[in-house]
Amino acid sequence: MNLFLLDAPITSKRQVARGMFVIGLHAPEIANSVRAGQFVNLALSPGPLLRRPFSVYRASADHIEIVLKAVGAGTAQLLALEPGDRASCLGPLGRGFELAAGPQTAVLVSGGLGVAPMPLAARDARAAGMRVTWVHGARTAAELCAETDGETVIWATDDGSQGTAGTAVAAAPDAEVVLGCGPNRMLAALAERWPAAQVALETYMGCGTGVCLGCAVPLKGGGFDRACKEGPVYRAADVDWSALPTHLSYAVTA
Ligand SMILES: Cc1cc2nc3c(=O)[nH]c(=O)nc-3n(C[C@H](O)[C@H](O)[C@H](O)COP(=O)(O)OP(=O)(O)OC[C@H]3O[C@@H](n4cnc5c(N)ncnc54)[C@H](O)[C@@H]3O)c2cc1C
Ligand code: FES
Repeated sequence: MNLFLLDAPITSKRQVARGMFVIGLHAPEIANSVRAGQFVNLALSPGPLLRRPFSVYRASADHIEIVLKAVGAGTAQLLALEPGDRASCLGPLGRGFELAAGPQTAVLVSGGLGVAPMPLAARDARAAGMRVTWVHGARTAAELCAETDGETVIWATDDGSQGTAGTAVAAAPDAEVVLGCGPNRMLAALAERWPAAQVALETYMGCGTGVCLGCAVPLKGGGFDRACKEGPVYRAADVDWSALPTHLSYAVTA
């Protein structure tokens, strides 16, 4: 898999939920090679910001999109960018979802910012011949990303202000292939219900390229993996959920 480092112009910006924006970048090489579940590492160009990882949300011929909410200095600086500004974009990184042809149904379960890898997951699942149901949850209707994909869409909110009252995991129907992304506690619940599900994990990251070991993921069978290299997509049953933090701010948005 080729890796590209691009000085990418911002081409679009739109709001999709309270505080949540989709940013478009002109990045043809990455757009043409990215798979669902992979991410890019962004930095301001020039700028003081260390690279920050973001799942690729959508990809077209020349552009990629990321979905972004400000949780700290780096995401706030990226969110302040406007069309015409530029960001340094390294990717595609990591191992994405495995979506081989054969199964006929896929359910995508996302919580909060966990929508991020799902439009590409829907694209790749459809390309493999699957019918896609997307179940998306958040705390309230205002925090639900307004954009979804899939033949069937199910909403869930903790306070019942839109769709089913309760979690996306509880609202999800069974399917042959289950893909998840969201807060770690949500993914832990998903692992209980579907041990064979594939989940895209969010961890702290340093280099994003396998060198610093800052993204260690504890494994059920013992030892650690690097989320940026062997992940960020894992078989749900392989992760030691009890040893992963549940307090990350990215993770508490659902
Ligand atoms: C593979 C991957 C894909 C991601 N995709 C997206 C995405 O599509 N959209 C998006 O908005 N965010 C995404 N994130 C999370 C995003 O990278 C972090 O929110 C960001 O790095 C925080 O940088 P900051 O400088 O704003 O915050 P910091 O100042 O570094 O930290 C601010 C707060 O954010 C928390 N935080 C920092 N890094 C992370 C992290 N990696 N995960 C969770 N919480 C963190 C800290 O605990 C702190 O409370 C992804 C992370 C990974 C690992
Ligand atoms: S972030 Fe450095 S090894 Fe994964």
